[in-house]
Amino acid sequence: MTIETADLSFTVEDGETILGAARRNGIYLPFECGWGSCGTCKATLISGEIRYLLENPPAISERDRKRGRIAICQATPVSDVILRASVLERLPEHLQTRDVCAVVESIVEVTPDLTHFYLRPEEAVSYEPGQYAIFRLGPELRRAYSMANLPGDEAGLEFIIRRYPGKPGSEAVFRLRPGSRVMLEFPYGGAYFRMTGRPNVLVAGGTGIAPMLAIARALVARRADPGIGEFPHYLFYGARSPVDLAGLEALYALSARFPQLAVVPVVDVPDAEWRGETGLVTDVLERRLSEPWSAYTFYVAGPPVMVNAVVRRLRDRGVPLTQVYYDAFG
Ligand SMILES: Cc1cc2nc3c(=O)[nH]c(=O)nc-3n(C[C@H](O)[C@H](O)[C@H](O)COP(=O)(O)OP(=O)(O)OC[C@H]3O[C@@H](n4cnc5c(N)ncnc54)[C@H](O)[C@@H]3O)c2cc1C
Ligand code: FES
Repeated sequence: MTIETADLSFTVEDGETILGAARRNGIYLPFECGWGSCGTCKATLISGEIRYLLENPPAISERDRKRGRIAICQATPVSDVILRASVLERLPEHLQTRDVCAVVESIVEVTPDLTHFYLRPEEAVSYEPGQYAIFRLGPELRRAYSMANLPGDEAGLEFIIRRYPGKPGSEAVFRLRPGSRVMLEFPYGGAYFRMTGRPNVLVAGGTGIAPMLAIARALVARRADPGIGEFPHYLFYGARSPVDLAGLEALYALSARFPQLAVVPVVDVPDAEWRGETGLVTDVLERRLSEPWSAYTFYVAGPPVMVNAVVRRLRDRGVPLTQVYYDAFG
C-alpha cells in the first residue's frame, strides 16, 4: 500500500482497513467517525482495487465513486494500491494504534439495555479520554466501543455497551463472558479531551455517555490544574426515559467531588417522579449555558440525529467548529 503524495509505503493485513494499517504504522491520515459516515477520511484511489468492510459507506456518493474517492476507514486493499491522501503529521507515540489482547473481568448490567464491561488488557495501554477501541469480534466483524474511564484505572478498561438484539456486533459482545479474551485495536478517535483554557460543555446521548464519562473523569482528576478549576463545566446527558440514564449516580459523585461540574440529565419521556429537564438537548443548552457559547469548548457524542442537531445549533450560535469535537453513533 503506497501513499503517493507522501512517498510512504506500508503493509495492510488481511481484513484490515487502510486507516487502521496507517495508524498502526504511525501515519496520521485525517478521520472522524471511523465507520464510513462523515467523509473526513476520503482519499483518491490512483491504482489498485479495494473492497469495503461496510458495504456502501454512506459518505461515498455516486460522484465520489466516479472520481475514485474512497473512504479509507472502511476500505481494505485486494491488490497493491496507490492512494492520493493528505498525511497530517506523525502521531505522538501514545496515540499510535496497537493491537492489544484483553480479558473480560466482569460484566454488570445497569439498565435493561446497557451493560458495563470491564476488560483487563494484557499489557499497559494508553489513550486519551474520549477515544475508542475497535473490538475484533469475528472475521470482518469489528465494532467501535468508547472507553468510559481513564487510562491506568485499576478497574481495567470500562465500556458501556447497548444491546441490539439480533445485530451482529452487539450479539457477539453480549456472548462474551468473564474470562473471554478479545483482541482490541486502539486508541482511535479525534474527539478526545484537550486542555483548551476554556470551560467545557459535554453533551451525551444514549451510549455517548461512555466517552463523556471518561472526559468528565478527566476534568475531575485535573480540577486543580489551571484552566480547569476556575471554570464552570457542564455535562448534558440525554436519554429516552429516566431508566435509560446509565450511571447517573457515578456522574453525581463526580459532581460532588468537583462542584463546578454541573450534571444535567434530560429525558424525552419523563415518569411521574421526574423533576429534571425534558425535551430536546439543544433547547436545554439554550436554557442552561450562562456564557456566550463561543466561550466554551464542546464535546458531543451520541446518535447521529442528536449530534447533527447539536453541531448545527453550535454553528448557528457562532461557535467556531475548531472548538467542537464530536463522534456520532448509537
Ligand atoms: C466512534 C464510535 C464509538 C462507539 N462507542 C460505543 C459505545 O461506547 N457503546 C455502544 O454501545 N456502542 C458504541 N458504538 C456503536 C457500536 O460500534 C455498534 O455500532 C453497535 O454496537 C451496534 O452494532 P451491531 O453490529 O450490533 O449493529 P448493526 O446494526 O449491525 O451495526 C450498527 C452500525 O454499525 C455499522 N456497521 C455495520 N458494519 C460495519 C462495519 N463493518 N464497520 C463499521 N461499522 C459497521 C452499521 O452501519 C450500523 O450503523 C460506537 C460507534 C462508533 C462509530
Ligand atoms: S467516513 Fe471515514 S472517518 Fe468518517
